[in-house]
Amino acid sequence: MNLQNKVAIITGASGGIGEAVAKDLDAAGMSLVLTARSQDKLEHLASNLQNAKAVPSEITDPELPQKLVDFAIQTFGRLDVVFNNAGVMTVGAIVDVDVEAICQMVRINVESAYRMAYTALRHFKESGSGFLINTSSIAGLKTTPQFGAYCGTKFAIEAFTDSLRMELAGTNIRVASIAPGSVDTGLYDHWDHNHKEFIASGGLLQPQDIARCVRFVLEQPPHVLIPRLLVVPSAQPV
Ligand SMILES: NC(=O)c1ccc[n+]([C@@H]2O[C@H](COP(=O)([O-])OP(=O)(O)OC[C@H]3O[C@@H](n4cnc5c(N)ncnc54)[C@H](OP(=O)(O)O)[C@@H]3O)[C@@H](O)[C@H]2O)c1
Repeated sequence: MNLQNKVAIITGASGGIGEAVAKDLDAAGMSLVLTARSQDKLEHLASNLQNAKAVPSEITDPELPQKLVDFAIQTFGRLDVVFNNAGVMTVGAIVDVDVEAICQMVRINVESAYRMAYTALRHFKESGSGFLINTSSIAGLKTTPQFGAYCGTKFAIEAFTDSLRMELAGTNIRVASIAPGSVDTGLYDHWDHNHKEFIASGGLLQPQDIARCVRFVLEQPPHVLIPRLLVVPSAQPV
């Protein structure tokens, strides 16, 4: 698929994987609608890209997905790709894990992602074509002690993505997931030293590694779909 002059919405675009994907799709000639909470980071990123607009937002706002789709159509006249990526990661032991943070993680990683996916796919059904990529994780395929709640959110994204893909098989609408292993981003900024050590023990990917994979999935010819791209650090024994 030639991405030149196509339009994408990227959630979680103010840093990490979302920012790297924005830079890569910008280089491919795409127009971009970028969203996250950090207005300064978004506007700085948008100002350094060819044709990008920042839409600062709280991803758990139920009205947001339709606002983003409408904004893309009003601003760029079309929408071709949604990179459904915003997410947080809270882990910890039963005795002291922050249960409120866990529940907010479910609202962000699952509920908000579901809303964005359905809204995007309903638009793609009307427009006749489109590509939805959901950011899952190696944690969407395997679990480990203290990470279960986060893994549960990514297992949900994997099951959801597969079901949507099968429901849309034979249409011009493709749905896929990108499932990274450990990537060097701000996702772990609030973590304690031990958990940070554990997650980096097998080496870290860089956000650009994930962006390259996302572009590879998007640029497949229309008769080809990579349903899930699992990408891990070669040194990570997972
Ligand atoms: N890093 C990894 O090892 C790894 C591995 C597998 C999967 N993933 C997944 O990759 C995705 C991106 O994460 P990342 O690693 O790039 O981490 P990151 O650098 O922390 O990026 C997370 C993005 O989500 C946005 N976000 C978080 N909470 C939000 C909220 N309530 N409202 C709006 N936007 C919000 C953040 O922007 P603001 O803070 O500005 O709102 C930021 O742009 C997540 O779904 C994560 O689960 C990451």
